[in-house]
Amino acid sequence: MKILVIGSGAREHALVWKLRQSPEAEHIWCTPGNDGIAQIAECVAADLSDVSGMADIAAKLRPDLTVVGPEQPLVLGISDEFATRGLSIVGPSREAAQLEGSKVFAKQFMRRHGIPTASTYGIFDAAVDAYTSLCEVDWPVVVKADGLCGGKGVVVTSSPDEATAFIERLMETKEFGDAGKRVIVEEGLSGPEISYMVLTDGEKFVPLAASRDYKRAFDGDLGPNTGGMGAISSDDLVSSEVETAIQEKVVRPTIAGMARDGKEYKGFLYFGLMMTRSGPKVLEFNCRLGDPEAEALVMRMNFDLAALLRRAVTGNLEGATLTWKPKASLSLVLAAGGYPGLPKIGAPIAGLDRVRDWDCAIFHAGTKKEGSQYYVRSGRVLNVAAAADSIAEARSKIYDAARQIFFEGMHYRKDIGKESTKAVNRVAQP
Ligand code: AMP
Ligand code: GLY
Repeated sequence: MKILVIGSGAREHALVWKLRQSPEAEHIWCTPGNDGIAQIAECVAADLSDVSGMADIAAKLRPDLTVVGPEQPLVLGISDEFATRGLSIVGPSREAAQLEGSKVFAKQFMRRHGIPTASTYGIFDAAVDAYTSLCEVDWPVVVKADGLCGGKGVVVTSSPDEATAFIERLMETKEFGDAGKRVIVEEGLSGPEISYMVLTDGEKFVPLAASRDYKRAFDGDLGPNTGGMGAISSDDLVSSEVETAIQEKVVRPTIAGMARDGKEYKGFLYFGLMMTRSGPKVLEFNCRLGDPEAEALVMRMNFDLAALLRRAVTGNLEGATLTWKPKASLSLVLAAGGYPGLPKIGAPIAGLDRVRDWDCAIFHAGTKKEGSQYYVRSGRVLNVAAAADSIAEARSKIYDAARQIFFEGMHYRKDIGKESTKAVNRVAQP
């Protein structure tokens, strides 16, 4: 099989790394890729916002299958473009990707199909109406921009001033452009969060192992939101009862609802769930694999990912079961100084060679190579991932490896996987 991976981050590096282990994988390209991915796949320059340009590349390379990492090309309709040209692709159509591309679409969809989610105080397209709604809410509330804001479009707050200021930034200052034209004000839920992902062919689905990401910049879940600072995956994260509830109340109705609405969903589908006292509730959908969850998951995939993707594109997921070994894994983001604000770029990275002996994988996100030296290119620089029989063991591997690496300004969270995973099962009675 010849495979094309679309994207340029650590998630795509992890996908390429795993696909290469498939005995069926004959050649792998990555577009645009990055200087880390270039060590193990052929990278082809491309612009992720130019779906027809990427389809041109695929038409020339003729891969048997393409898999898309990030949301942007999916929301822009890359799957439709590939389909018109008869090219196989793993990823939802533009219409189905609205589950991530528009939070208003997602909310209305969930209401229509009875999928558990936070109740809304309102969906607004005028700032004055959004401000007025705040007079009659229970705090905390959550204010969400409708469109894609790179993880910066949500505020959870108990402060009317903060909620008002955020609505102003979205709707009046228009900090996120059209993404903030419509706003949702919704109930603030509480409970632990879980990332639950499935691969679906539009009808059947196969679940991936449950995982969790760490979105805040600093230890103890403090500081600003980021694109993700680390993730864990473990067999202990959700009990089988809770997992059944997630599948029956959330996953199945979502896939069936999309099909019923004439927007059949194919590809990876990510459910960002809050495990509340009254069961799992959907905070968000993503139309792709989570990042940095994917980097943790690939470490435990005890199956042929290329063969699985082929089954997904041929509508043949019936009976597919995935085995995960060992029991736990972890991924840790090494970030540039200043991230998630303006990152300090250009510093040389030391120690990458030393990590080779550490039973970890290193996935590149924001690096660039000159000669044989890697330098910092953007905010999330590297991702260190490892698997073990327990989170504690995976943690010690990862942090030993991280200490071998150095660049000026480097920071990372020290508490990924530190808390007990039992908490989720305790509160989330189906
Ligand atoms: P989203 O992009 O919708 O996932 O929101 C980003 C983060 O905001 C989530 O991971 C949660 O931590 C938080 N969040 C979103 N919606 C809610 C909600 N209704 N109640 C509490 N926290 C929320
Ligand atoms: N880790 C959450 C996301 O990929 O959006």
